[in-house]
Amino acid sequence: MESFYITTAIDYVNGSPHLGHAYEKVLADVIARTKRMMGTRAYFLTGTDEHGQKIQQSARAKGVPTQQFVDSVAAEFVALTKLLNLSNDDFIRTTESRHQTVVRDCLQKLYDKGEIYRAEYQGYYSTRQEQFLQEKDRLPDGRWPEIFGEVTEITEANYFFRLRNYQAWLVGYIEQHEDFVFPAHRRKSLLEFLSEPLNDLCISRPKERLEWGIPLPFDENYVTYVWFDALLNYYSAVIDRGLWPADYNIIGKDILIPAHGIYWPIMLHALGLPPPRTLLVHGWWSINGEKMSKSTGNYVDPVEFCRTWSVDSLRYFMIREMAVGQDSDFSLQQFLVRYNSELANNLGNLVNRTLNMTTRFAAGVLPAAELAEDPERELQALWPRTRDEFLALSAGLQFHTALERAMQFVTATNAYIERRAPWKLAKDTSPAGLALLKTSLATMAEALRLSASLFWPVIPTVADKIRAGLGQPPLAAWAGELDWGGRLAGVSVQPVEILFPKPPADKVPAKS
Ligand code: MSP
Repeated sequence: MESFYITTAIDYVNGSPHLGHAYEKVLADVIARTKRMMGTRAYFLTGTDEHGQKIQQSARAKGVPTQQFVDSVAAEFVALTKLLNLSNDDFIRTTESRHQTVVRDCLQKLYDKGEIYRAEYQGYYSTRQEQFLQEKDRLPDGRWPEIFGEVTEITEANYFFRLRNYQAWLVGYIEQHEDFVFPAHRRKSLLEFLSEPLNDLCISRPKERLEWGIPLPFDENYVTYVWFDALLNYYSAVIDRGLWPADYNIIGKDILIPAHGIYWPIMLHALGLPPPRTLLVHGWWSINGEKMSKSTGNYVDPVEFCRTWSVDSLRYFMIREMAVGQDSDFSLQQFLVRYNSELANNLGNLVNRTLNMTTRFAAGVLPAAELAEDPERELQALWPRTRDEFLALSAGLQFHTALERAMQFVTATNAYIERRAPWKLAKDTSPAGLALLKTSLATMAEALRLSASLFWPVIPTVADKIRAGLGQPPLAAWAGELDWGGRLAGVSVQPVEILFPKPPADKVPAKS
């Protein structure tokens, strides 16, 4: 079986998960589930980034030992994977020893090869912020901003990775590998950035300034720079599985340059390993047209949101609304538009009608279609077009338009029901009336089964509930499931709870 390895960025554990984290993980999940539906063995990794100054500072601000702090926040991220129904095969934490061992081995290997050297670094240092400053950080009058407190010029020895030596190799690699960055405009920005000379990368922090990190194997007075540590998670998690290189490293647009687009491929190349096949770079969510920010309260908590609505409605909205690679805005109004018009009134309505009419007009047993006239022929002809477009769009990561196509098929099925009006046919007791009634019930049920199969990677719980309503087992693969047929004839339908309940009045924003 063909195999496929997909990763997400690992999230900093200095705060609780937000919508941006949730989106990226759901996107990876949709891709992994789509691959599995196609019969590929997909391995899906996510995790948390737990070292570095920001994390040490957050723990200190809370007055909690750092390990205890990261354990509690990491638990929230693990809980999110369950809540969002992610099908990840592993969850890596950079504080785990399996990761630390690999990071230290890689550092030692690079050090032994002469790729890492020690040098003195001179610069301005803010003790309050525990960071080196640059000339650009000065105020126009030459003073340092208040937040930096006392700034002193210090000289410090550190370890540097010979990034610069690999610049020409990286440019050549990106030029020869069009698929290395998706979407294409991000690849262009990366190449533009690489038109300026690179500096070597400082990969150490002295322990007296930062304790919370992986000690360098060749000098225990230093810990590893957090990005050098974090990037290696994609490799350390699968070192014993032979899965490297990753097919997709999914990341947000803010961490392409320089971390994933420059440090990461060069680190791998220097280690004698191939780069990931594709860096899949997604855009950012704003909330109500403004930057997402916890401090201003312009923020969506995915846990609370899923409790109020449902996991699948959040998953659907995020994947339907955002074109992969572009930015999008999240607002409750826009969520409700899609929730009501697409999920509740279109898909939910088709489910209710199919199950209720089968119960009322056929004693709960799906009949076989007895004929095919224009309405049936038209819907059946729309199906392979929908399916083929859906699959091609999904393969090209255009999930938002793929979902649109699938929803159009649901709309066409609801229109078919209006056209046939089974509630009228049920009053016609002639053999022709009965044949049409049976045909219309069979047709809508088959169309619903097929639609649910397409929706499965995005809304797996809902899709499997629909299948259960049609007496079908949970979906395991698309093979054999995407052709129009008559398998539902004779099946007893089962009751299904309301999939998309009417929003509670207090949750619906007043119209402005
Ligand atoms: N820890 C680093 C990544 C290390 S990967 C070896 C990091 N963490 S993060 O928690 O700040 O961000 C994790 C991911 O969430 C990133 O890919 C980032 O782009 C994404 N998002 C953060 N805010 C986002 C939005 N507002 N919208 C969409 N994604 C966003 O960076």
